Amino acid sequence: MGSVFTDWYSKYENFPVYQDDTWVVSYPKSGTTWTQELVWCLINDPKSPEAKLELKKRFPFFEFDSLISLDLDTTDIRKDDPMCPGNTWHIVQNLSAPRTIKSHLPKELLPKQIWQVKPKIVYVCRDPRDVCVSYYYHYIREHGYKNTFNHFVQLLLDDIMVYTPFWQHILNFWKMRHEDHILFLRYEDMKKDLAAVVRQVAAFLGRDVNEEQVSWLTHHCSFEEMSKNPAVNHETLRMAPTQEAKAIKFMRKGKVGDWRNHLTEEQQKAFKQWTLKYLQGTDFPYYQDY
Ligand code: A3P
Repeated sequence: MGSVFTDWYSKYENFPVYQDDTWVVSYPKSGTTWTQELVWCLINDPKSPEAKLELKKRFPFFEFDSLISLDLDTTDIRKDDPMCPGNTWHIVQNLSAPRTIKSHLPKELLPKQIWQVKPKIVYVCRDPRDVCVSYYYHYIREHGYKNTFNHFVQLLLDDIMVYTPFWQHILNFWKMRHEDHILFLRYEDMKKDLAAVVRQVAAFLGRDVNEEQVSWLTHHCSFEEMSKNPAVNHETLRMAPTQEAKAIKFMRKGKVGDWRNHLTEEQQKAFKQWTLKYLQGTDFPYYQDY
């Protein structure tokens, strides 16, 4: 984590957790925003005026304030923006119940009470190769990243990128996937059959949805609709825009397998080695198709 994280950690560690909270947890760029909008719409009325509020207000980013110190070029942060790191903690604190909270923290760094109170947690994971590509563009877009793609790949594979080790993040939740308060989702399954995932998430959250609602939500949460929706497309989240950054949308491609357009054979080999090293001896069956 960035160097300010330790200053914030006791707040995170001791954060009061409620039974009726719903947390969406993921490694960054795994489909978090997508999952958040779906979860929010299942808990609340998606046709209410509140649904038009930006997602980051309805479903704030728990540890966002501590990210200000990421050791990258964040000189352009808009400190006057209440949603920028350094300013968001009060939004999390002032949420009214039932709260919906987003976090990228690994299991070990989430508030201690989560494991006693056991609120519902929806965890979403994605193929690390696609995460890597998506995160690279995110870093250009939001942090003015200027180094090479190869360097970025290495940061992830060396487990020094923020929120890494990547596999530990996923595997810790995978191991808990049968617990009643945890739902483990995959980006690729959402792409394959979103309606099925809508039904699955609704059942997990204890919401009755009829087929008309499933169909409405599937449409509302499609890539095309979310790309057009200012409440969720993060077009206002621009911390360090450079000319290059301006051209990159948060809702970038929304596809499975974009890594094929980016990773060299050598990088694919490195991903394979890294993946097999972490997955050896586990029962995690995905993302090994090299
Ligand atoms: P790409 O950069 O590959 O397009 P996160 O919310 O965790 O930061 O993840 C962002 C990624 O999820 C981006 O991936 C974004 O386009 C994708 N995404 C967001 N909403 C989506 C949707 N409705 N359908 C498919 N992909 C979506």
